[in-house]
Amino acid sequence: MAYTIAMAGKGGTGKTTIAGFLVDYLVKNKMTPVLAVDADPNSNLNQVLGMEVVTTLGEIREEVSIKNRDGKLPSGMTKAEYINLKLQQAVIEGHGFDLLVMGRPEGLGCYCFANGLLREATDRLSDSYKFMVIDNEAGLEHLSRRTTKKVDLMFAVSECSRRGIDAAARVKDLIEELDLDVKDLYLIVNRVPESGLTQDIKEAIDGYGLKLAGTVPVDSQIFDYDNRGIPLIRLPEDVPALKAVREIFNSYLTTVRRTGPFPLEK
Ligand SMILES: Nc1ncnc2c1ncn2[C@@H]1O[C@H](COP(=O)(O)OP(=O)(O)OP(=O)(O)O)[C@@H](O)[C@H]1O
Ligand SMILES: [Mg+2]
Repeated sequence: MAYTIAMAGKGGTGKTTIAGFLVDYLVKNKMTPVLAVDADPNSNLNQVLGMEVVTTLGEIREEVSIKNRDGKLPSGMTKAEYINLKLQQAVIEGHGFDLLVMGRPEGLGCYCFANGLLREATDRLSDSYKFMVIDNEAGLEHLSRRTTKKVDLMFAVSECSRRGIDAAARVKDLIEELDLDVKDLYLIVNRVPESGLTQDIKEAIDGYGLKLAGTVPVDSQIFDYDNRGIPLIRLPEDVPALKAVREIFNSYLTTVRRTGPFPLEK
């Protein structure tokens, strides 16, 4: 089973940015094969990674239900077999990693089916990868929908505000309430000003019993690359935010690297 790392947190806090950096980190450290999963119906992890989305699970869902309705499934194939075949086609190959995009169903379609497909796809693909990085949509829905069976490490990403920390605490509470299989939850505070975390924020983090993995400084280059449509993984190595994120990954993933249930090199 792949070691699964998922992002959670409030809207616009930097989940996709950090997920993209993580995929890049794993590839550069040869912790491959890696599956990047864009589980946000409003997907954009591909932009951070500089990839075109070819097919999404939402589109597959649409195609299969139309074919099924019109009696046009390939002969000799059950709906389940056809979906299985299609799932394999939904894996987009990148440089050193693969990408799976949930997307959204066309029209008024419900998200439940695409979510079900996502769970099925991640379960099925999990054995073929060493690491799976899941970029979730904002909010708590993905937790209650249980889009993945187990998560080894979840990063709750927060902006440097009391409300962001409150939202991260709700992630923690919901994991406990729903008894989700999330082995470890860590907080990353992103877009931190030069002055660092205020005493109030530090106290809120402690008060909620959140474990702080680290902070990432606000960085105009990230914003600039994004606005110019340049994939963030092309940022120069010395960008402070990138260095900070790498330090976090170094601290929280090196143990996995050493003791993981898989050989490091092929
Ligand atoms: N450390 C940073 N410094 C400056 N800008 C940043 C930083 N991290 C992220 N951003 C910018 O913040 C915006 C939101 O980031 P991102 O899309 O990663 O957030 P998100 O949590 O995935 O959002 P959503 O909830 O909409 O999925 C982007 O424009 C990104 O470039
Ligand atoms: Mg996002």
